[in-house]
Amino acid sequence: MTTLAHHSTHGLFTSGEPVRSWTVSTAKPVRYEVGFTPDVLDPRNPALAGAGVPGDGPAPPRRLLVVETTVDELYGDRLRAYGAARGLDFQIHVLTAHEQLKTMDAVFSVAQAMDRFGIARRSEPVVALGGGVLMDVVGLACSLYRRSTPYVRVPTTLIGLVDAGVGAKTGVNFGPHKNRLGTYHPAAQTLLDPRFLATLDRRHLSNGMAEILKIALIKDRELFGLLETHGSRLVGENFQGPSPVVRQVLGRAVHGMLEELQGNLWESELERVVDYGHSLSPTLEMRALPELLHGEAVCLDMALTTLIAERRGLVLPRERRRILDVMRGLALPIWHRLCEPGVLGEALADTVRHRDGSQRLPLPLGIGDAVFVDDVTPGELAFAAERLRTYHSEAEETGRGFGEAGHE
Ligand SMILES: NC(=O)c1ccc[n+]([C@@H]2O[C@H](COP(=O)([O-])OP(=O)(O)OC[C@H]3O[C@@H](n4cnc5c(N)ncnc54)[C@H](O)[C@@H]3O)[C@@H](O)[C@H]2O)c1
Repeated sequence: MTTLAHHSTHGLFTSGEPVRSWTVSTAKPVRYEVGFTPDVLDPRNPALAGAGVPGDGPAPPRRLLVVETTVDELYGDRLRAYGAARGLDFQIHVLTAHEQLKTMDAVFSVAQAMDRFGIARRSEPVVALGGGVLMDVVGLACSLYRRSTPYVRVPTTLIGLVDAGVGAKTGVNFGPHKNRLGTYHPAAQTLLDPRFLATLDRRHLSNGMAEILKIALIKDRELFGLLETHGSRLVGENFQGPSPVVRQVLGRAVHGMLEELQGNLWESELERVVDYGHSLSPTLEMRALPELLHGEAVCLDMALTTLIAERRGLVLPRERRRILDVMRGLALPIWHRLCEPGVLGEALADTVRHRDGSQRLPLPLGIGDAVFVDDVTPGELAFAAERLRTYHSEAEETGRGFGEAGHE
């Protein structure tokens, strides 16, 4: 509902003319769908052809598909066969996407493809097939194109499935800053198909596991237990094994993420538990480019904040040991040469600017809960980094973990 309030104040100015002003107030309902859709490229599955449009829409349905280069190489034939079998009038725009190409140039390339295709804004949602970078780029292009064009996400990486594909944010990097230009523009529909993970390499699977671990650490102790027991096997099997644990882990991760996002989609509340792992990591990730992947930087942040939490008595030594063991078991880094006081101090300062002048730093509370603090000191960051450096080098040498090598 939109309201218009008209104010008229007499006598403010010496002329005696009434001062007139208006306040427009409105609320825009937002609704979007996220759902598991196994075998999304099976021609018998109507989900992709109909995604993002209410009812049937015009026939034959027209679609612009923006597909990441590797995804096109691996799945392009099946995608084209799908389009033909479902009677789609479609074009495919192939775009190479990785962190260093997450720029406005990529957004313009999508906008040009939309122009060439002649998108009918209301009935022809753009379909994005790829990882987090491709979806963030297409989301931003669609949000800008004619001030808002609907789109559909089909994530093909693990980060895409559990994180980048389910929220409302779009964005690209700008200057040295991660996701500095962006909007809130959720896809009308996201189709989650874990089959795409069959071709994803180990490193990118581990990378996605970091975001699942984030949810486990701040709100889902049971999920942590599943990662502890089955995490490395799930990665080893590319999430394709027959065990119900695959569904449980992916389902809990997506549910946990959406539970946190839904009440705060526009992030007006600055204390967000899902920011866990994202306080120091944006600077680390951008400084290390292309060396660290997103989830790897997130894991470094989680390792540092776990040690800070332990020193404050929020996490027990044995809980810290379990957490670091899970990180190692998932082949995620817990230390990097950029984890030094200078860089970490700058990273924290940038986050404070981003969070309106306060740290609002989520720290783990045991396993499965979190608290916010505003008073982390440079000394605490340095201490945590130094302990992790020692742990890292001892683990490299001995193959053993924290505690086992005598650190309690
Ligand atoms: N919008 C959000 O809310 C949100 C949330 C989390 C992360 N992100 C963003 O997501 C990005 C990270 O996403 P990502 O980890 O998916 O990285 P990515 O998009 O760079 O994809 C990684 C690589 O995987 C390849 N690939 C994609 N699908 C494949 C498949 N099925 N098989 C084989 N290879 C495949 C691609 O070629 C790509 O080079 C970051 O930029 C991060 O900021 C956004």
